[in-house]
Amino acid sequence: MKKKKHLLVLDDEKNYLLVLEALLTDAGYKVTALNDPETALTFLEESDVDVVITDMKMPKITGAEVLEHVRKNYPGLPVLIMTAFGTIQSAVEVMRTGAFDYIAKPFSNDELLLSVQNAVELSQARQNYQLLTENFQTRYGRNNIIGKSNAIRSVLSIIDRAAPSKSTVLITGESGTGKELVARAIHFSSPRKGAPFVSVNCMALNPSLLESELFGHEKGSFTGAVAMKRGRFELADTGTLFLDEIGELSHDMQVKLLRVLQERRIERVGGTEEIEVDIRIVAATNKDLLEEVKKGNFREDLYYRLNVVHMQIPPLRERREDIPLLVAHFVEKISEEQDIAERTFTPEALDYLSGYEWPGNIRQLENVIERCLVLGTGADISVDDLPPEVRDEESQLKSAVDLLPVQLDLSDTLEKIEAALIRRALARGNFVQVKAAESLGISKSLLQYKLKKYNITGH
Ligand SMILES: Nc1ncnc2c1ncn2[C@@H]1O[C@H](COP(=O)(O)OP(=O)(O)OP(=O)(O)O)[C@@H](O)[C@H]1O
Ligand SMILES: [Mg+2]
Repeated sequence: MKKKKHLLVLDDEKNYLLVLEALLTDAGYKVTALNDPETALTFLEESDVDVVITDMKMPKITGAEVLEHVRKNYPGLPVLIMTAFGTIQSAVEVMRTGAFDYIAKPFSNDELLLSVQNAVELSQARQNYQLLTENFQTRYGRNNIIGKSNAIRSVLSIIDRAAPSKSTVLITGESGTGKELVARAIHFSSPRKGAPFVSVNCMALNPSLLESELFGHEKGSFTGAVAMKRGRFELADTGTLFLDEIGELSHDMQVKLLRVLQERRIERVGGTEEIEVDIRIVAATNKDLLEEVKKGNFREDLYYRLNVVHMQIPPLRERREDIPLLVAHFVEKISEEQDIAERTFTPEALDYLSGYEWPGNIRQLENVIERCLVLGTGADISVDDLPPEVRDEESQLKSAVDLLPVQLDLSDTLEKIEAALIRRALARGNFVQVKAAESLGISKSLLQYKLKKYNITGH
């Protein structure tokens, strides 16, 4: 059964209170009727109330004071004020200070019920919004950044230090490394987390559309501007504006953005009024912006304005130790989202995932895991379930070689690698020599020869 909405009704006239209680209970609400405002304030502290309905004129504490108390302590809770006929003027005052509605006594039952219903709906919407915001905060908070590599630790530490401030942050890194994730984590770890996180992709729109998207426009400022529209700068007021793909900004827009960063004021397209905006800017790009500055594609002054706090997110292949953690994270996340059984990758399959180059970084890893979970049929996910590019031996070898020091002795290194491969094959084959030889594609006698050569013993 649906939970009844809980109304707190306050009136010093007991008879009136009885009538209200009966009427609202009949209408399907849970009603707490009190005639002493002081008791009511204590009651609010302990109970789960959806709407407050209060009389205006009461001894000791007035309706206006109740309203003020609720506004201060329970900002999402709607208050309905009842006033005696003839005090409409003060009712108007009360509306100004944030009452949801007022009703002049005597009122018709329908009038009261309609107003209560509206207040209940508002209260529900506010509670949903609150949940949604909390949900966002857990979903996009810094705890969602997975990894134990030094690179990730340093990213987290910069987030922690930079989030409380208003400083502009520039995030650079290859495609799919987690730039947007980091941008959101900055916002949701900052004091601005309750305000909007507004994102703009500078590449997705042509320059003239981008301008009106960012700055908004006045009605009639150009053909098609049929109504006034607020831009993203205005929408992000008191929050964070995320400028993605900032390296794609046209020269013209670079100048305009620079002005906003300097003055923290904007003008809508076709407008004359300057609007002050309080925004935190986080920008991201997969381009080497300094290189773009040198080439003359990006303004140097804008670069320095953006590059106050710089975060460089390294590609996944430079922090392979994060791969097993990320795999576990995505297996859990995707299985839950898709409502499919959680499965594990075999150690060999994990080796392949850890050895691959990942040109598309974490986004590619996530896609590969999803594909394996959805298409794989076995109890575990094995090497055969991996997409061909990941299984590709040459690319695997190349990434392994990339990890080696640049200056090395060729034959000595090859021998070391051979010995290491044999040790691994033995361990994987539970030290059964036939198995190890088979997985290495050599005969048992050759294996035994090499065991002697490298002085490898049983366990
Ligand atoms: N460290 C991480 N832990 C968990 N998930 C991550 C991590 N880094 C990235 N991801 C996930 O990988 C995907 C790609 O990340 P994101 O969109 O932030 O990358 P990007 O750098 O903005 O890429 P592009 O340059 O292509 O826009 C997202 O689903 C994100 O949640
Ligand atoms: Mg991105």
